[in-house]
Amino acid sequence: MTPALQITDLRVSLSGNTILSGINAEINAGEFVGIFGPNGAGKTTLVRCIIGTLAPTRGSIKVLGLLPSQAARRVGYMPQGHGTFDSTALSARSMVEAACEGDGWGIPWTSKKSRQEVDRVLEVTDAARYAQRPFSVLSGGERQRVMLAQALLGDPRILVLDEPLASLDPKNQGLLIECVARVKERTNTTVLFVAHDMNPLLNVMDRVMYLAGGGAALGKLDEVVTSECLTKLYGSDIEVVRTQNRVFVVSSEGGVTETECAHHDHD
Ligand SMILES: Nc1ncnc2c1ncn2[C@@H]1O[C@H](COP(=O)(O)OP(=O)(O)OP(=O)(O)O)[C@@H](O)[C@H]1O
Ligand SMILES: [Mg+2]
Repeated sequence: MTPALQITDLRVSLSGNTILSGINAEINAGEFVGIFGPNGAGKTTLVRCIIGTLAPTRGSIKVLGLLPSQAARRVGYMPQGHGTFDSTALSARSMVEAACEGDGWGIPWTSKKSRQEVDRVLEVTDAARYAQRPFSVLSGGERQRVMLAQALLGDPRILVLDEPLASLDPKNQGLLIECVARVKERTNTTVLFVAHDMNPLLNVMDRVMYLAGGGAALGKLDEVVTSECLTKLYGSDIEVVRTQNRVFVVSSEGGVTETECAHHDHD
């Protein structure tokens, strides 16, 4: 079977700086993969290569066996942050409708089919209740659901979610994860889920991709999130502490480096 995602010897340099190098990964259809790593590790850079908005400096990425640009219509994408829409007067629903049109389905967004599809995704994410309000007045959690709804348009085979949990309280983190997990189970969608705190995802992830020091480690949680593996990846002493079914990644320089950031807010 064609892998959902195949990354071969990927290198990405931006403005002369190498952000990622020697990345290899194969992700199967229907896998839920959590993508983690400190700020600046290259998570969004990798996401941009996968959705086809950034060309690798070297190596290749195949999405559903195709070039990322060819597969784009089968990939649902939720970008990191939504601050650029702070002053929009558009209703949340209109934003999703506009995205439906922007996907180039060849049907005007006022068409019945398109309206039904917008209704469907707003229903799936439980965002229909407030979709008539201007997007700009919605709370962070409500906006996040609308952005997720937009990513679900057209029933994508792969969902790429860049920090969908940012600025959500624990209850809303749980609701969003549940929603994504339900979609995944029902439609065997592949999920690539970028986050800082891996703890809310422990029950739904099949594998973990951890980025640090320009490299990546992909595997089961127990293989990747270990002191040995992460020390190698970071190139400095890292200790993984597990307690009460929670995971903490602690750096030797002091402080928890990752996974504690439940209130981490990028916006
Ligand atoms: N166009 C660019 N030119 C130069 N450097 C860039 C460019 N775009 C991104 N970078 C750098 O690439 C590195 C990786 O950025 P990226 O956004 O991928 O990190 P991230 O892992 O998503 O971080 P965060 O957790 O903060 O979202 C950063 O150091 C960033 O400054
Ligand atoms: Mg990012």
